Amino acid sequence: MKTVILREKKEDLIKGADIIKNGGLVAFPTETVYGLGADAKNSNAVGKVYEAKGRPQDNPMIVHIANFEELYDIAETVTPDMIKMAKKFWPGPMTMIVRNNGSIPEITTGGLETVGVRLPDNITARTLIQLSNTPIAAPSANISGRPSPTRPEHVKRDLEGKIDAIIWGKPCEVGIESTVIDMTQDKPMILRPGGVTRETIEKVVGRKVLLDPYLNKKQNDGTNFTPKAPGMKYRHYAPKASIVIYEGSENDVDRAIEVDARRMQSEGKKVKILLFETPVAAMRTWFDELRKADDNSVDVILTNALPEEGLGFSVMNRMLKSSGFNIKKV
Ligand code: TXA
Ligand code: MG
Repeated sequence: MKTVILREKKEDLIKGADIIKNGGLVAFPTETVYGLGADAKNSNAVGKVYEAKGRPQDNPMIVHIANFEELYDIAETVTPDMIKMAKKFWPGPMTMIVRNNGSIPEITTGGLETVGVRLPDNITARTLIQLSNTPIAAPSANISGRPSPTRPEHVKRDLEGKIDAIIWGKPCEVGIESTVIDMTQDKPMILRPGGVTRETIEKVVGRKVLLDPYLNKKQNDGTNFTPKAPGMKYRHYAPKASIVIYEGSENDVDRAIEVDARRMQSEGKKVKILLFETPVAAMRTWFDELRKADDNSVDVILTNALPEEGLGFSVMNRMLKSSGFNIKKV
């Protein structure tokens, strides 16, 4: 299949929307990561997304909308909490899990009775959805198991020849995927931490928000957690290089990384050092750095842990998974 490159201009977005309407696949930029879009109501089109990504069929997709009102076309009920959340965080990196009123087919929801809904901030994404005149199901536009795509080049690398079009936009500002929050129970629960933090959500709903207990815990630590977002159980975000995350005071971490790097290099390994000052800096570049490391045949990545609060919790979730929970305390 020939993959067409489209630009962020109206006439190209109309072409993209026509592809979506005709059951094709279009990758597009969002503020979090690039998405691989299909008409969320077209089972055949959504089936092709699973195929192109090599994605397990039990892993549901997020449905993207262009206006808040479209939530009423999808959710069985829209609660006051959902309205508060949408008012505060939409458009933006926040996905609400709601009960499906039956309008979204089973293949899109991975057979669940619920559905994830997100209104992205990126104007190209919203325009594409609007012009397509249907909600767009879109997982991240990468081959399953590869780091999520934060630049159009990443999408091209993974999916060229497998999808109809790529809308060539800018690098994603947030750099990790949206916060997924289950709004179907009495207490909201974060299933995947992202660009919106637990702390800010608690302020908006005015009470405690639960965290899926599986998050940021090693899977094989003796407990038997199964994450509530099916996608969180897969080995994810992993480059070919191995990763070590150093935890300790800044000085100790810097020193230990230097010593270890020298030793590894003397063993003939190609080492890459990534030192992050803030969670935001780490979020924006983490996936891109992993892909660059692969392109440069890096053997080992040495990096620093960030405090697991606020956005630090979200980016550490990705870093822990990428590394296979490989923490070195110094
Ligand atoms: O930022 C994002 O959310 C990006 C952009 C493209 O919008 N999309 C994205 O989609 O990250 P994906 O498919 O890579 O991740 C969706 C996650 C998976 O972990 C999936 O299991 C979970 O959301 N999910 C989707 N629907 C769900 C549902 N009904 N119940 C529980 N988890 C759900
Ligand atoms: Mg993904």
